[in-house]
Amino acid sequence: MQKEAGQYFDMNRVGWDRRAAVHFGSKFYDVDAFLDGATSLCGIELAAVGDVSDQRLLHLQCHFGLDTLSWAREGAICTGVDFSSVAIEKAQELAARTGLPTRFVCSNVYDFATAPEEKFDVVFTSYGALCWLPDLVRWAEVVAAHLEVGGRFYMAEFHPIYDLLAGYSYFTRAEPDVDEEGTYTENGADAVAHLATWAHPLSSVINALLGAGIQIEQVSEFPFSPYDCFEGLVEREPGRFYLSHGGNDVPMVYSILGRKAER
Ligand SMILES: C[S@@+](CC[C@H](N)C(=O)[O-])C[C@H]1O[C@@H](n2cnc3c(N)ncnc32)[C@H](O)[C@@H]1O
Repeated sequence: MQKEAGQYFDMNRVGWDRRAAVHFGSKFYDVDAFLDGATSLCGIELAAVGDVSDQRLLHLQCHFGLDTLSWAREGAICTGVDFSSVAIEKAQELAARTGLPTRFVCSNVYDFATAPEEKFDVVFTSYGALCWLPDLVRWAEVVAAHLEVGGRFYMAEFHPIYDLLAGYSYFTRAEPDVDEEGTYTENGADAVAHLATWAHPLSSVINALLGAGIQIEQVSEFPFSPYDCFEGLVEREPGRFYLSHGGNDVPMVYSILGRKAER
């Protein structure tokens, strides 16, 4: 029998609560390095987003806040949103420990709403976010609703071509894939859970954003992942993990930069 989206969200929330606890202690996320001053952001997004000083930045699906707090260190006034209460508690703990004044909100992306007059200069989301969302049209509406006119949207995401090569659908299907799996950190066997993911081709992401009034300024594709989180990756340059298919590089990441248009 088919489940309602809400039942899949409940399943995924349990899985992400488990993952957040395990990820927090992992070498992969390296919280100690972050507390010592290292940024968790990758060169891809740092170069594209540029100066965020004094900008109001909304981070959707912020996990336990390392990237949100890293943007705060870059000078942004940040709000992070995630539906995992464990992740949000850890994020708040890190905000307190670092003294970075950052707001974290526990909410499903689809239910997130601020006061109508509260808008952001930047909406950001990254790496492993969209596959947890069944409906990109509604997601893009949430993005647009929180952006100031002229404000920037930026996302960097794993490329759906990789999912195809890993045995998943490229195109969206009515029902999500549900797998029982551990997680991608080195201690991931401690976080086995059932998780539902939805496939989204690049065109669906772009069209959802355009439909919500985000003018797209740049789409980029990268032949490497900044994270060593998939099987078969080779670190050819420091921090750049490549996958070869038939002797050619697989696109591992794409990014989209857009701006909210006046309507
Ligand atoms: C891979 S992580 C975020 C990626 C981020 N780059 C990181 O590694 O810190 C995906 C996050 O999405 C969150 N998430 C999944 N579905 C969500 C939903 N419907 N609403 C809000 N958060 C969601 C999970 O709790 C998790 O923290």
